Amino acid sequence: MTRQFEMAGNPGENEIIGLVSKVGKDSMRIDAVWPVISNRIRAIPEYVKLFKNAFDDVDSALDINITHIVNSIAAFEIHEWTSFDSPFDDYLNGNKKALKLKQIKGMELFYGKANCSSCHSGSLLSDQKFHSIGIPQFGPGRTRPFDPYARDVGRMVETDNINDMYKFKTPALRNVSLTAPYGHNGAYSTLKAIIKHHLNPVKMNKNWKPEFANLPNAPWLEQIDFVTFSDTREQDRILSSIEIKPIDLTDKEINQIVSFLESLTGKTKNKRPLGKPDRVPSGLTID
Ligand code: HEC
Repeated sequence: MTRQFEMAGNPGENEIIGLVSKVGKDSMRIDAVWPVISNRIRAIPEYVKLFKNAFDDVDSALDINITHIVNSIAAFEIHEWTSFDSPFDDYLNGNKKALKLKQIKGMELFYGKANCSSCHSGSLLSDQKFHSIGIPQFGPGRTRPFDPYARDVGRMVETDNINDMYKFKTPALRNVSLTAPYGHNGAYSTLKAIIKHHLNPVKMNKNWKPEFANLPNAPWLEQIDFVTFSDTREQDRILSSIEIKPIDLTDKEINQIVSFLESLTGKTKNKRPLGKPDRVPSGLTID
């Protein structure tokens, strides 16, 4: 909520980003911004009522703080958008016919020769850790204010630890076939392409072309968007941070993995518990 490139917007656009841009100066800390967000909720009686119902420790508007707000958003996201009713779940629950032969082969590769499960593990198919796999960089990403040009050093933006350079969190893979494009910046528009990237990250990165990302036509952004990609020293740093060794798979095997990833799609994907609301308590319009 306080990030310029995520929800807060650009300095000058609203009071939240205005305050965020002061963080670090005049000893101001990010937690000074949170009450401004909480106040927006506290000022709307309908929200206060909903928060009182939802949380034992909220008895009045002033009890609502950022923790209640982020926990509400997290609960909503989990409730509304996670699916555990995929053919893969049925298979794990003992229905051996839930997966097609091609998907079983893909699953065996995923947990075997292709080594995917060394990072994509557990019930969400993510170890929840950060790794560098050399996804081609473009766009502003989360550029740090003191960086000389637009680049995204990944986890290191948060930790300032050089060992975290270019690492991104392993994404969960449930419903992944519904969520193209792939990679933190959407560098690949198909599952097949992102899998091929994992199998030989250095080669795929070097041969990557902006067309692979299926970007809208925005010539005024192109110069800045691809500045990292044309900086050979930055490219060398990214490529040397990659943690994956190349693995040789046939085209048939890659298609089997795609097919396995498709089996991670929930059966009720289009029937979400709440769906789009007709209105929200703030009275803001809904697209
Ligand atoms: C070293 C850990 C690691 C291994 C091994 C690995 N992945 Fe990944 N995978 C990641 C990370 C990290 C990302 C996100 C990278 C980024 O956005 O910069 C990712 C991204 C993906 C995505 C894109 C998801 C999305 O929502 O954008 C898919 C699909 C995927 N991996 C599938 C696979 C498959 C299939 C294999 C095996 C062939 C595999 N991964 C092996 C770490 C790994």
